Amino acid sequence: MTRQATAVAHPNIALAKYWGKLPGAGNVPAVPSLSVTLAGMSTTTTVSFDENLVRDELVLNGVREVDSRALFRASELLDRVRVSAGVTARARVVSDNDFPTASGLASSASGFAALALAATKAADLDWSREQVAELARRSSASAARSLFDGFAELDGGVEDGIPSAGRARSVAPPSALDVRVLVCVTTEAPKSTSSTDGMRITQETSPYYAAWVSDAPLAHRQLREALLAGDFGRVGALAERSALAMHACAMAAGIVYVTGPTLDALAHVRVLRDRGLLVFATMDAGPHLKCLVRAADADAARTELARIVGVRRVLETTPGAGARILDASPERPR
Ligand code: PMV
Repeated sequence: MTRQATAVAHPNIALAKYWGKLPGAGNVPAVPSLSVTLAGMSTTTTVSFDENLVRDELVLNGVREVDSRALFRASELLDRVRVSAGVTARARVVSDNDFPTASGLASSASGFAALALAATKAADLDWSREQVAELARRSSASAARSLFDGFAELDGGVEDGIPSAGRARSVAPPSALDVRVLVCVTTEAPKSTSSTDGMRITQETSPYYAAWVSDAPLAHRQLREALLAGDFGRVGALAERSALAMHACAMAAGIVYVTGPTLDALAHVRVLRDRGLLVFATMDAGPHLKCLVRAADADAARTELARIVGVRRVLETTPGAGARILDASPERPR
């Protein structure tokens, strides 16, 4: 017997970033974060629990993974599902991204969100979104936010001496803010330092890590308020500040994700702003600059960004839906 489900999920871009983790095994962020889930780029993942398999299998973008870190991380998530559901069968996972993988475009967010949703559905677990988000968070913290439509937040840090449980929730629907996200793709290659390693090294060695951790909660609260007020200019300014603070903190530990084209695009964003075009930038653990603009300014900003040498293409995305099930067949003879 095979129990199978297919889920689709989209990457999310943090407007208020998380960087760093609380001590302990839960993979809970050291600071709270707030993101926008993007339509237009997706991961589609099918999980089939199959009693005839002797080990978990993963086919990622058409390539069968053998003894890889990706397979190990998928198996870890599947083990948690098996324990909760009382399932012993191994699983076959087939996952495809329609955008570059592991290059700082949040493929781990959409990947683990789709995997968590498909696996829990295939195992017949009747879990809430929040529970699935918790499962996804243990594998990739930012993945917890991709379960939700539009704007989502993920708790983190320590408040009044109490460590956060790392819960994720929806903050506002996609329509809450007039915004387009323009992704300036600068390379199709995977990034050199994973976000997990980058965070660990930052925590261990950045002289600015303590400042980052103490500044981020207020930045998160301010961004949340600006979002709920529909204030695009303030959201953009706070998002750009959060990204620069995160990268400054990481750079001081020798972790550099930006490249020449990233900085050229960032400089151009500032020139455009001086000329009156309201565009802001953010960047994650990779070299792609993501620009925030209002819908009416998207074409003008896109034309400008596409001209920058080193920007290979510009993807235009909008706030979109959270992860969802495409197809589930609970009990099917092979
Ligand atoms: O999803 P993770 O745990 O690998 O880390 C993602 C970190 C950033 O994308 C840089 C920031 C964020 O809040 O998404």
